[in-house]
Amino acid sequence: MAQAKPKYAYFQGKIVPIGEATISVMTHALHYGTAVFGGLRGYWNNDEEQLFVFRVHDHFERFVQSAGLMRIDVGCTPHELTRVLMELLRTEGFRENIYIRPLAYKAMEGIGVRLHDVEDALTIFAMPFGDYIKPAGLHLGFSAWQRVDDNTIPARGKISGSYANSALIKSDALLAGYDEALVLNADGHVSETSASNFFIVRRGVAITPPVTSNILEGITRRTVIQLLRDDLGVEVVERDIDRSEVYLAEELFLCGTGVQIAAATQVDHHVIGGGDTGQITHRLRELFFNVVSGRVAKYRDWLTPVYSPEKVAAP
Ligand SMILES: Cc1ncc(COP(=O)(O)O)c(C=O)c1O
Repeated sequence: MAQAKPKYAYFQGKIVPIGEATISVMTHALHYGTAVFGGLRGYWNNDEEQLFVFRVHDHFERFVQSAGLMRIDVGCTPHELTRVLMELLRTEGFRENIYIRPLAYKAMEGIGVRLHDVEDALTIFAMPFGDYIKPAGLHLGFSAWQRVDDNTIPARGKISGSYANSALIKSDALLAGYDEALVLNADGHVSETSASNFFIVRRGVAITPPVTSNILEGITRRTVIQLLRDDLGVEVVERDIDRSEVYLAEELFLCGTGVQIAAATQVDHHVIGGGDTGQITHRLRELFFNVVSGRVAKYRDWLTPVYSPEKVAAP
């Protein structure tokens, strides 16, 4: 799949052309997966001619916390990271939907597996981005792999090394003809997919695994819980989910910055609900896209505008 390329990156403390943001083959993070990253989206609102970054502070807070788990000093607070990001996005001048990737990594050039006494570095880039996965009609399979365990690699951190686990899960799913896979944790309960959280609906109640089930603590998941409860009047329960409950679900959707809200209608060849996007998923998707693009006043504080209103208003 061809992807648009960034023109610039924040690298070694300044914004540089992307071609200058390069690192040595000896870099620690490349060998040992000793890096953490974030994934944010920016949504272009054509009516307002504005680019809104969704829940930037929450993303950078998790980014700094993930770094802490890996003894990486990002060197910036979430507030400072936001300032740097806004400068980068204005330099790019995007007028479309984008994906943003901050990465903090162990930058030492040399051999030696450890986290302490290894220098850290930070980079951020962003690029135009559409759907990561098709938004409806997904066929999922259960992975033969197990989700990383908190006592193996902290599952709530967005740690580069643990995405080897995600890549195994995703490739096996695609090569077996599925669109994505659900994965069990060490307890045998369903945790999430290779790159998203998930919800099932049973008897009208939305159910999602708790944060202690080796999931990434998704910011979209948190958003969805609030939208379902406060705006759609749907009861939400956070509890362990068994594999067979998934097969019996009325609705099933994935959520995450990449997948956004994506409906699954088959799991291991079991048809979910009636085989179409369920009613709750449908309403949630509509609300979600209104929220992220700035069309719901009460959630405007989740959005950070990139361009100043003066600049936007200019013809
Ligand atoms: C493994 C994994 N789980 C869940 C998520 C969802 O997290 P968020 O909603 O913060 O993007 C992601 C990232 O998108 C992920 O990579």
